[in-house]
Amino acid sequence: MNFIVLTIFPRMFDPFREHGIIRKAIEQQKICVSAIDIRDFATGKHRSTDDRPFGGGCGMVMKPEPLAAAIRSATKTAPLAKKILLTPQGRRFDQRVANELSALNALILICGRYEGVDERICQDFIDDEISIGDYILTGGELAAMIIMDALTRLIPGVLGDKESAEKETFSDNVLKHGQYTRPSSFEGQDVPGVLLSGNHQEIDKWRLEASLIRTFLKRPDLLENRALSKEEINILKKWCIDIEKIIHSQSIHGPGALSGGQ
Ligand code: ADE
Repeated sequence: MNFIVLTIFPRMFDPFREHGIIRKAIEQQKICVSAIDIRDFATGKHRSTDDRPFGGGCGMVMKPEPLAAAIRSATKTAPLAKKILLTPQGRRFDQRVANELSALNALILICGRYEGVDERICQDFIDDEISIGDYILTGGELAAMIIMDALTRLIPGVLGDKESAEKETFSDNVLKHGQYTRPSSFEGQDVPGVLLSGNHQEIDKWRLEASLIRTFLKRPDLLENRALSKEEINILKKWCIDIEKIIHSQSIHGPGALSGGQ
């Protein structure tokens, strides 16, 4: 995947390129990350990339000419690239959008700064607007890195077996179950016995149940948007029955009844 980032802070992307899986993906030529300085396309004595808004008001607006020239130049090197503006006004980035974008060969990521980008750029030069969440950053650079990171790990061959993209949080609209590694006992807390049993059928069952419980407790909205399998419905029903038993016992026999009143 070819990522071309347009920014006034291209050096911000140096450390991004130099570490971990991103670095490996670049070395293996699975991705290319180029950060192009919008200021290189600015003219005039001060080569300014921003100006005051017409109509008054506080803050500065990114000027259209340097941005347009930078986008045109990037489009020449990657004619089929999708041009995405990073802005808090865009559609929300999530795993579904990551999967969608990972099918593309090239992206031009345009990092807005200041109070925004001249509206004529948004209208005529952009294919898509993306926000990484409902909060305001000082610019789109971190958003661009987040998007590139999430897309890179979806590219076949980028993650080894160790870091497989399958069976992970959000891959199936459920959160991943808890994970444990050695030691099996840590500060008085033991790893669930089933994970040490070697019985893979039981381990899979435990993991599915743990995933569902975790999703229900932390992100019930994910379950609402998901078609549940028969097995998953049975797991949820079993909890309901267990919870009902506890409530029923409390209402008849009083607090602590199920544990023998201790
Ligand atoms: N630029 C500023 N805030 C942003 C956000 N939340 N998402 C994407 N780009 C941004």
